[in-house]
Amino acid sequence: MPITNDDIARGLRQHPAQISPKYFYDQRGSELFEDITRLPEYYPTRTENAIMQRHAADIAQAVGPGRTVIELGAGNCSKAEALCRMVRPACFVGVDISADFLAEAVERLRRTCAPLDARAVAGDLTQGVVLPSDIPRTGRLVFYPGSSIGNFDPPHALALLAHMRELAGADGALLIGIDLPKDVGVLEAAYDDAAGVTAAFNLNVLAHVNRLIGSDFDLGQWRHRAFFNAAEARIEMHLEAAEPCEVHWPGGSRRFAAGERIHTENSYKYALPTFTDMLARAGFARTQAWTDERGWFAVLHARP
Ligand code: AVI
Repeated sequence: MPITNDDIARGLRQHPAQISPKYFYDQRGSELFEDITRLPEYYPTRTENAIMQRHAADIAQAVGPGRTVIELGAGNCSKAEALCRMVRPACFVGVDISADFLAEAVERLRRTCAPLDARAVAGDLTQGVVLPSDIPRTGRLVFYPGSSIGNFDPPHALALLAHMRELAGADGALLIGIDLPKDVGVLEAAYDDAAGVTAAFNLNVLAHVNRLIGSDFDLGQWRHRAFFNAAEARIEMHLEAAEPCEVHWPGGSRRFAAGERIHTENSYKYALPTFTDMLARAGFARTQAWTDERGWFAVLHARP
């Protein structure tokens, strides 16, 4: 997984500057994201969990037993644990960019869902996932919960779905969670919580970048901003300079005016028909979907 200084420095030089959201997830960022998932305002995790529980029997029937579950962005594997109890897979493969965090989580999963052949694979989804050659090639279920697909712009999301179709193989399937459009107030509160956890998560990316490229971002000079962009159907997260500042790193520097922003994340909200159409374009023609009673989130099972 090549994390290059060039990649980050290039983003910092752009106008507007940007940092890929994949750099959120160092150890601290992964812990902060876990805290986010428990916030009262952050509905996606608990809504998805509720859908999985409520429709457990139907989902288990759609998936079938004895699969090789490949979870992309497995994180703390808490969703994997719930799924493994439901569908009793033969093998679980967790893939995540945060290798240490993942290894611990997979170890825990091996114990809580024993006997389970559970593996951790460090990998960056944006670079294409290459699985070890001994992972079974048939009976695969690619699991991509949490509406993480929303963090890619639509062309990249489509390319990723096509990659998942390849990973799944001809007899495989995809189980994926997506966040649906809803009231703007609900959306914006979920990404700008009262306790400031999302702000800390957003700011932590600067500390991570400082370590990765040797830059000297002063976190105190930056503010968290999150808002819904209706034209693009996405939440945008930015870091905004509270005062004029200059950031240096080996081989470069950048001046930011007060109020200038670094774009750190998009979180697209897809209407169900739009997303089903996207799945079809990626090669998943047969889709089943489950939602909550408010219609806030959906879990989809899709087959080639
Ligand atoms: C990981 N991903 C689905 C989260 C989201 O909702 O877009 C990341 C996140 N960013 C801020 N809060 C949560």
